[in-house]
Amino acid sequence: MSEGADLVANSAAPLVADDENYDSGIDNPSLASSTQSLTESVLSHVYENGRRYHSKSVGRYFLPTDEQEQDRLDMYHHFMLELLGGKISLAPFDRDPGFVLDCGTGTGIWALDYAEQHPASVVYGIDMAPIQPSYVYPNVRFEIDDLELDWTFRDKFDLIYARLMSTGIKDWPRFFQQMYDFMNPGGYVELSEHDLNGVRSDDGTMPSDTAYNRYLTLLTKCMASNGLNPYLTLTDYTRMLTSAGFEITKTLEFKIPMGGWPKGKKAKYLGLLYAEMSKTGFDAYGKSLLVKEGGLTVEEADQLIRECVELLGERKQHVYYYKWHIVARKPE
Ligand SMILES: C[S@@+](CC[C@H](N)C(=O)[O-])C[C@H]1O[C@@H](n2cnc3c(N)ncnc32)[C@H](O)[C@@H]1O
Repeated sequence: MSEGADLVANSAAPLVADDENYDSGIDNPSLASSTQSLTESVLSHVYENGRRYHSKSVGRYFLPTDEQEQDRLDMYHHFMLELLGGKISLAPFDRDPGFVLDCGTGTGIWALDYAEQHPASVVYGIDMAPIQPSYVYPNVRFEIDDLELDWTFRDKFDLIYARLMSTGIKDWPRFFQQMYDFMNPGGYVELSEHDLNGVRSDDGTMPSDTAYNRYLTLLTKCMASNGLNPYLTLTDYTRMLTSAGFEITKTLEFKIPMGGWPKGKKAKYLGLLYAEMSKTGFDAYGKSLLVKEGGLTVEEADQLIRECVELLGERKQHVYYYKWHIVARKPE
């Protein structure tokens, strides 16, 4: 397996801590200015605790859609490209697929990149929040919709991509079934999700009450009480895809270091990128739910989020989480 090179955890190899160099061995130590948001929608929104949320998403999706969040999503796209060895997709087409769907397209950065690299494809990017740019390649269509409702697309797709949707999809079996029903035979679904069940360490440097897991335990409880399923595992996702009728063609499980603590250029770079994204990511995922549902005051939520962000900059806890990438095919 070449994707992801030294980070692929389908092997059980531990990530080794770099006790000497924290930032060295990477070409781009300054990560802070590495992305730019593509657009800022000024349509209907609400403000809460210093973050802007889209009003269409209130009660349905708990992450903000402000410029800070758009920057984080764009940086995440760069992170994924780094993780997958520069590949925008692992679906094995020998020519451009006809119709492509990006579920929960966010800033639309994946859809735009895919469309640029595959000029003969037509790429639809669907999201509940209108944070996509208005000037796009002629083969890109952005539409505002809720993917948990009945799909009404006129076309069937050859590739359906869904990345980071665990915060938005409540009924995964139905989501996968709609993918299957709107997929041409021989088409591919590509799913990218992460493990929210807890962070891990291989060398005993993580205390059992690490702030990361205090944060995750409360966050996932709040997500569950909102009808989401944050406890899904790689096996659950593959099982549900199979039940919908897909054949699994590839599963990748990566250990993502939280911070620049590991040895190895790629692992260290990804860890630093993760730390940079998470400076706003812990707040984006947690603030609204921890306060509204988790019983924390704003000050307590801020304190827990700050503890997590501070840990990212330290090298004491050698902590990682699992990220999954699954490719599945609708039989001919
Ligand atoms: C964490 S972001 C990920 C964005 C994008 N997939 C990426 O990887 O950069 C999740 C996105 O899904 C959208 N979303 C969540 N639930 C949705 C739903 N039921 N229908 C459509 N969009 C949804 C949110 O508005 C948000 O833009």
